[in-house]
Amino acid sequence: MPRATAVINLDLPGPVISRHLYGHFAEHLGRCVYGGFWVGEDSAIPNEGGIRLDVVEALRALDIPNLRWPGGCFADEYHWRDGVGPRAERPRMVNTHWGGVEENNHFGTHEFMALCELLGAEPYINGNVGSGTVREMSEWVEYLTRDGDSPMVRARKDNGREEPWPVRFWGIGNETWGCGGNMRAEYSADLARQFATYCRDYGENKLYRIASGANEDDYQWTETLMRQISCFGCEATPRTFFQGISVHRYTLSGPWEAKGSATEFTTDDYYRTLASARRTDRILTGHSTVMDLYDPGRRVGLVLDEWGTWWDVEPGTNPGFLFQQNTLRDALVASLHFDIFHRHAARLVMANIAQTVNVLQAMVLTDGDALVLTPTYHVFEMNKGHQDADALTVHLRAEDAVRQAGDAELETLSASASVKDGTVLISLSNLDADEPAEVTLDLRGGALGAAEARLLTADRPQAHNTPQAPAAVAPRPFDGVKATDGGLTLTLPPHSFATVRAPLV
Ligand code: AHR
Repeated sequence: MPRATAVINLDLPGPVISRHLYGHFAEHLGRCVYGGFWVGEDSAIPNEGGIRLDVVEALRALDIPNLRWPGGCFADEYHWRDGVGPRAERPRMVNTHWGGVEENNHFGTHEFMALCELLGAEPYINGNVGSGTVREMSEWVEYLTRDGDSPMVRARKDNGREEPWPVRFWGIGNETWGCGGNMRAEYSADLARQFATYCRDYGENKLYRIASGANEDDYQWTETLMRQISCFGCEATPRTFFQGISVHRYTLSGPWEAKGSATEFTTDDYYRTLASARRTDRILTGHSTVMDLYDPGRRVGLVLDEWGTWWDVEPGTNPGFLFQQNTLRDALVASLHFDIFHRHAARLVMANIAQTVNVLQAMVLTDGDALVLTPTYHVFEMNKGHQDADALTVHLRAEDAVRQAGDAELETLSASASVKDGTVLISLSNLDADEPAEVTLDLRGGALGAAEARLLTADRPQAHNTPQAPAAVAPRPFDGVKATDGGLTLTLPPHSFATVRAPLV
């Protein structure tokens, strides 16, 4: 049986793990918005002003910190004025990226802001650079955030909203290297500077402008953006044009053309997937290293605003809707990512799973009035105590905890820890498909009181939840944690995720 020791110095807190690393993403794609978040006021499904209440309730339990909208690729063909005013009069458009379906614009700015208020989440609005204008984006910021009297403020009031909304996170385009305009890095960086200039801070509202960044390991893109980041000489006080830059990185088990089924996969596929997930660590290190060169003081944040698994769509569903099931394998991809995010907390300021409802690696799947919590949902819930906590470095020394994953080797144990308000939370994943693993937590610089542990596992990595079996993969209390001289010990079952919570004493 693989064995490992995890050394944790309880008295050496590291950077704060921003709550925004647990961020979300809702695109006008398939059934994410329509049928997922939004059912309309006339629906028999319980709703508030058209927003689906079971989805809101499930997501509130995750303490979701922010929600990115309206895309994705959709953001760069979205024209916000089409989505305000009386719904019946809103113009329609074709959603060319996602299934070629007609978009009726019934879910627009006011509906999105109402959703964020119901969720208790900060809005993260992604503006249109690819097919929009500087003026259009500038006026959207004014419409949302300006107080007093101005043309956009009057338009907002005419549409029923007196007060401006607080909006911090603002995306300047999406994937401008691809669906957002097929630009070169140099051109995209110039546009980011131009658009950012006209996205104004009104009153107390301070925008956190996020420039469209790299795909995966395109460090050249990040370097090009970082060279353009500063506005020296254009104002008395040098500032950065944008406060964050994005990167997107999806997890697959093989090539893009052969993504495979979400639920039917071999052990080899399983290990390849987890090895791919682990590569996110290297990619974030690469981008952070480039950013350190230009911004050693870390004024600019790295924003992984799309991450998650991408499988073939479920048989019989629209290929443009990206609807996929979600198994214990997906949950372990998520738990691995969170360990990685916690290690990168000094530079990584936000991460957004793609996507929250009914699309790609979702938290919840809906079918008519039924709602299912996915295994990934449970990882977000079990880990929510890390939000805004101080990271604790985990030094993991393992024996025999390696499996072959195609040409690569996969380390099968992963962990991270944090402390907040005198409570320590430790997350542990055993990725081995067949073997349990014994882990000793060697705690130094302090001691813990009585520990409470929870476990997420199932009989096999392919296990998933359906309306008929909604709790096939669900967390349960775990009484296998034993106190030792200098810490705790536990045996993790194969393909499992566990959390241990205990007070500092
Ligand atoms: O999340 C689905 C799509 O993936 C997004 O629209 C796009 O930004 C990315 O390519």
